[in-house]
Amino acid sequence: METLINPQGTNDQNPFNEGKTSQAYSRIDPIYEQSAIEAINFVDPLKHNGAEGLVIDIGAGTGVSSEVILKTGVKNLVLVEPSEAMLEQAIKRLADKAEYCKLHAEDLNDKFNSNVDLAYALNTFHLFTDLSKFLASIACALKPGGCFVFNISTPTYGFEKLSKEEIATIKANKDFYTKLNESAPNEILIYTIALLDKIIDCDFTEVFTKDSVEQIFASVGMRLEDSTEVIIKMQADYQRNIWSMMAQSFVSDQKQIDDLVKSIELPEELHIRQAIFKLVNQS
Ligand SMILES: C[S@@+](CC[C@H](N)C(=O)[O-])C[C@H]1O[C@@H](n2cnc3c(N)ncnc32)[C@H](O)[C@@H]1O
Repeated sequence: METLINPQGTNDQNPFNEGKTSQAYSRIDPIYEQSAIEAINFVDPLKHNGAEGLVIDIGAGTGVSSEVILKTGVKNLVLVEPSEAMLEQAIKRLADKAEYCKLHAEDLNDKFNSNVDLAYALNTFHLFTDLSKFLASIACALKPGGCFVFNISTPTYGFEKLSKEEIATIKANKDFYTKLNESAPNEILIYTIALLDKIIDCDFTEVFTKDSVEQIFASVGMRLEDSTEVIIKMQADYQRNIWSMMAQSFVSDQKQIDDLVKSIELPEELHIRQAIFKLVNQS
C-alpha cells in the first residue's frame, strides 16, 4: 500500500489548542454546520439503536457538528475533543444536552469499550496524528456492528476528477499556503503546497482514496459499507475566514494575516468537495 501521510498531522501541534483559534471558529460555523448536515443526511443517527444509542462526536470542536446531531433527537451524545479551548466553547453552546470527554481520537479505548453504536468524525480525520493507533482505538470502542462515519476533503483526499470550480479553489488554496510559507516557513506548509500541486495534476499517490480507506479499515476488521461525495459551496469570504483562522497557528501578527488573505484572488463561489464514508465494525 502506498504511504499515506497526513499533511497537518506531520506536526504534533494541534492548531485548535490556541484560545484565539477556538474563538475565531465561530466565524465559519455555517460551513461546518452545512457539512455536518450532509453527513447526518447520509447516516441518520436514529437508525443506530434509536434515540438511546450511544453516539460519539470525535474532534467535536466547539460543538457545531454535535448540535446538528442532537437536533435529530439523539439522547446519549458524548463530545470527544482533546483541546480544552475548543471544549470550553462547546460547553457554552450545548451545556447539559451532551457529555464531554477531553480525549484524543487515538485513545478512545481509555473510555469506550465496545459500547459505541455510532461515531462521527467530521472535518477532523485529517488531524489524527497516529493513524494505526486511531484504527485500533475506533475498532475497540465500537460495538460489533457499530458504525464509524467520517468526511474528508482535499488536500487530504484525492478525487478522480475535479471540476473547473474545484481546481480554481485548490489553486487559491495553494496560493494562500505559498504566501503563508513566505512569512512563516514551515515543514507542514511546504508539504501542503507540494500536495496541492500533485492534486491539480491528478496524482493521488500520497493522499487518501476510496480504495485506501477501504484497505486501512479492513486491517482492523471494519468494512466500508457506503460512501458518497458532496459539494459544499461557500462564498469567498467564508474561505478567507477559514484561512485567516488557520494562519493564526503560524503567524502572530493579525495585520500580516489580513494582508495575506486579502492578497489572494478567489472565484466568487468556492467549491469544496467532501467524501463521506460509512464503516461497519465486523468483529
Ligand atoms: C475543524 S474542527 C471540527 C470540529 C467539528 N467536528 C465541526 O465539524 O465543527 C477539528 C477538531 O479536531 C480536533 N482534533 C485535533 N486533533 C485531534 C485528535 N488527534 N483527536 C481528536 N480530535 C482532534 C481539534 O482540536 C478540533 O477541535
